[in-house]
Amino acid sequence: MSDFFAREIERLKRKDGYRWLRTMEGATGPRMRVDGREVIVLCSGNYLGLATHPRLKAAAIEATERLGVCSAAARLITGNNELYDVLEKRLADFKGREAALVYSTGYMANLGVISAVVGEGDAIYTDALSHASIIDGCRLSRALVKVFPHNDLSALERLLRSDTGFRRRLIAVDGVYSMDGDLAPLPDLAKLAKQYQALLMLDDAHGTGVLGEGGGGTAEHFGLQDPDAVDIEIGTLGKALGSFGAYVVGSRSLREYLINRSRSFIFTCALAPPMLAAAIAAVELVQQEPVYRQRLWENVRHFRDGLHRLGLSTEPSATHILPVMTHDRQRTMALCERLLELGVFCQGIRPPTVPPGTSRLRFTVTATHNIEDLDEALAAIEQAFREFALL
Ligand SMILES: Cc1ncc(COP(=O)(O)O)c(C=O)c1O
Repeated sequence: MSDFFAREIERLKRKDGYRWLRTMEGATGPRMRVDGREVIVLCSGNYLGLATHPRLKAAAIEATERLGVCSAAARLITGNNELYDVLEKRLADFKGREAALVYSTGYMANLGVISAVVGEGDAIYTDALSHASIIDGCRLSRALVKVFPHNDLSALERLLRSDTGFRRRLIAVDGVYSMDGDLAPLPDLAKLAKQYQALLMLDDAHGTGVLGEGGGGTAEHFGLQDPDAVDIEIGTLGKALGSFGAYVVGSRSLREYLINRSRSFIFTCALAPPMLAAAIAAVELVQQEPVYRQRLWENVRHFRDGLHRLGLSTEPSATHILPVMTHDRQRTMALCERLLELGVFCQGIRPPTVPPGTSRLRFTVTATHNIEDLDEALAAIEQAFREFALL
């Protein structure tokens, strides 16, 4: 039977679908060693550079000294240590919502929220480019799942109008699409949700901390004033917020409901105290110090302009996630390896993460890159793309 694994691996290698782990050395930052080679990292989610911020590190160390490194049980047993309360109040305040509930990861939050909110007899409407964890949450829920073409509001409205007889309906979308860097048309989605009495769920993993004047994310970016325009918002603490874990924000009753009904919340160990303490410090920093966001956007502009000057399109991105389409999966992975040789790490993205024929290099810059890092990377990108006749 174990031959099955080896056969499957061989099949993946033949199809160029094989994945393997690279070893990263050094502190999470703009320059690290990848498999022993020093490179400029252009694919991390450490958007604001908070992963190594002295205030996050000090908070994590203090919490470790005082509370230890393990919560040792689920939150409903002994895991709900004092830091959760602080973090959840800060997150609710940051997002302008009644309440927040912290989960162990964003993946688990999507699984646990969707499958608790809808089930048999309900319907979910989700975007064709929704994150894998939304898709898996939809599957787990046993609700009827309807996928509408990416950001196609007319198609969504047709579905909402023609469907009747469902107990509950949920629209589930990303705020910033993780592989394309474009935005969900949130104000129109919120209008449709109200009009057709559906719940709206937003996964703002890539918008939080980055978009909006106060870093509040996609809803703030669009100036959505009504705090209830989005019924359920999910986000990770493991990207711009420089820590680990995830949150759901919404009404107080949503929070209570999830504590009672969400299996990926109930049946898992609580986060470790240092992670919670670091997340508290991160939320404070994001609210108090816009400078990290400003640096990020300056870097995004510099790098994006540089790519465009080379003749490389970053369509359809409107954000800090900058995809450059390379289409063919084999070529994409070879280009990624060549860039590594030239001192730049940007992981190639291929199916099933993205639709067939849309393999890409997905660049992300951070607040901690400096102009020299970005210019050096652009020179390497130019060389590699020329070698591959893509320029
Ligand atoms: C849009 C989106 N949602 C959810 C997740 C999962 O979050 P986490 O890494 O906290 O599990 C990710 C990626 O990590 C993501 O890109």
